[in-house]
Amino acid sequence: MTIVSSDAAWRRLLDTASAPYRAAGRFAWHFARGKLGMDPVFRHLLSQGQIPPGSRVLDIGCGQGLLASLLLAAGATEPRPELWPQEWPAPPRGTRVTGIELMSRDVERARAALGAAGDAARFVCGDMRQAEFPPSDVVVILDVLHYVNHAEQNRVLERVRDALSPGGRLLLRVGDAESRRGFAISQWVDRLVTWTRGHRVPPTFGRPLAAWIAQLQSLGFDVEPRPMSQGTPFANVLLVAQRRAAPGAPA
Ligand SMILES: C[S@@+](CC[C@H](N)C(=O)[O-])C[C@H]1O[C@@H](n2cnc3c(N)ncnc32)[C@H](O)[C@@H]1O
Repeated sequence: MTIVSSDAAWRRLLDTASAPYRAAGRFAWHFARGKLGMDPVFRHLLSQGQIPPGSRVLDIGCGQGLLASLLLAAGATEPRPELWPQEWPAPPRGTRVTGIELMSRDVERARAALGAAGDAARFVCGDMRQAEFPPSDVVVILDVLHYVNHAEQNRVLERVRDALSPGGRLLLRVGDAESRRGFAISQWVDRLVTWTRGHRVPPTFGRPLAAWIAQLQSLGFDVEPRPMSQGTPFANVLLVAQRRAAPGAPA
């Protein structure tokens, strides 16, 4: 019997998750391959089982819907040793993703690629400061909150807490503003990518890692930080934040 290595399984998932973007144009396909292939967070989410099977997932600032495409590809993979690495938790079958994205061009790319997935991947064009958050088991916010000011960030996080089921999980990636060089590089690249994707370059609002963690704890989350910029010059951290059963309850 062949046992697939995690590298080979990941390459196959990368191909499968990028393929639908051919329907959304050359840029969308190249962007999907580049982002999924180079950003360590996507493989981490699967290899660490951060999104359990059957989860209702809310992806805030979802861009062109890459996470939804990856979850669809992973969920369609049989958990056989020749396809799915034995050291990874079970494939996230049956997830239903709602993506909220400000930029209509990205929402169009997401729908062109994944429109056929129905309820498994639906995309709303809206601003996270006003958009309704559906009840969710996992909320994912990757590199998005710094686009709004601190008071608005706090309000979004509070609404995320209220949308999460008890014990639900927020996966929040932020830059650590204290790590000056890595944070400055990530902000510079962020602006460049925003501009390349044809969007206006907005001001950004960072915080030191300790301040992000304190804010989440005050909202009733237990927080575990994980470095999440391996292979890149950034200072990104994934905060795995579990909603306590009763918001505000002691840890
Ligand atoms: C750096 S990209 C990250 C995209 C995606 N989360 C990923 O990791 O591939 C940030 C995304 O957040 C979106 N965004 C920025 N401000 C937003 C807002 N107020 N509401 C919803 N989305 C927003 C941007 O348009 C962009 O697609």
